[in-house]
Amino acid sequence: MPSSVMSTSMQGDGPPSPTVAPAVSAIGLRKSYGDKLVLGGIDLHVPAGSVFALLGPNGAGKTTAVKVLSTLVTADAGDLHVGGHDLATDPQAARAVIGVTGQFSAIDGLITGEENMLLMADLHHLSKEEGKRAAAELLARFGLVEAAKKPASTYSGGMKRRLDLAMTLVGSPRIIFLDEPTTGLDPRSRHTMWGIIRDLVTDGVTVFLTTQYLEEADELADRIAVLNDGTIAAEGTAEELKRMIPGGHVRLRFTDPAAYRSAAGALREITRDDEALSLSIPSDGSQRELRAVLDQLDAAGIEADELTVHTPDLDNVFFALTDSPTATAGADAPDQPEENAR
Ligand SMILES: Nc1ncnc2c1ncn2[C@@H]1O[C@H](COP(=O)(O)OP(=O)(O)OP(=O)(O)O)[C@@H](O)[C@H]1O
Ligand SMILES: [Mg+2]
Repeated sequence: MPSSVMSTSMQGDGPPSPTVAPAVSAIGLRKSYGDKLVLGGIDLHVPAGSVFALLGPNGAGKTTAVKVLSTLVTADAGDLHVGGHDLATDPQAARAVIGVTGQFSAIDGLITGEENMLLMADLHHLSKEEGKRAAAELLARFGLVEAAKKPASTYSGGMKRRLDLAMTLVGSPRIIFLDEPTTGLDPRSRHTMWGIIRDLVTDGVTVFLTTQYLEEADELADRIAVLNDGTIAAEGTAEELKRMIPGGHVRLRFTDPAAYRSAAGALREITRDDEALSLSIPSDGSQRELRAVLDQLDAAGIEADELTVHTPDLDNVFFALTDSPTATAGADAPDQPEENAR
């Protein structure tokens, strides 16, 4: 399946413009650990001011990609530029324009949130005064003023994640890498974090994030790449990715078994669920196709008790493109009950 949907270049109406240098550009990025090939020559392009999400199953190489692009680990090969700086010849210049929030917290739990912030300010060579000002401003922005004087080890997971990001923003990086910024957060904290990320983008910051939450990529990202087996299995907007896989359908539910049976006999190309008294008709969910389905129902004199339109969501895309043991079930079973109805 991946080869049939592979997209190698930016196309269509996406944000990239040939005149604006991408914030992050990787061509042929390769990285192995020992004899384990993790990234097999991948291409990534992130336009300045956009949000890019790297998805992939555990162990796919997301963190490795972040570490290479944020200069924490050296690539084996590849033409890599961050903020216009060549990572091979000028990693120092790249380092000056980026911030990184790792998958695992960089917070020192023994000192307070404020002290963690001031430590970061020191690392960025801010003067004492500038450091204090930056720390106060960021702690306020992230709702951590009250907690600022308490040891960071006493913070909740959500507070730690906010402090992590606040620390990343000391030094006002133009490009930030967020490795699973919301893993383990409750829905409210996740939404708070999304709001913070959106605000950063409004300010012109470029965000390169990895996530396990497909909903997160759907919400935040201008473009999404799915990493699998050391290659980019697909790349595009959330909508483009969803269109790559089949599974859209209209579902009709009946309460009257006789009405169900006559509908099942009258309609073509349906999938039956005799137990649930429901019928599925393939459809891309567009107005045109929906009208065709309704016309078909009218012509056959069928009145269903419930009609729902189902489009593939990013979970379906993820299952279709990544080869975990559960992959085939998701790819081949568009009638899964969890699908989003709208
Ligand atoms: N320092 C290292 N030494 C050896 N192997 C490593 C090292 N770091 C990562 N790997 C291996 O590289 C592969 C990719 O790891 P990576 O952490 O990049 O995956 P990931 O996509 O971030 O996974 P997760 O979703 O679990 O965070 C894994 O097989 C991992 O075991
Ligand atoms: Mg990781």
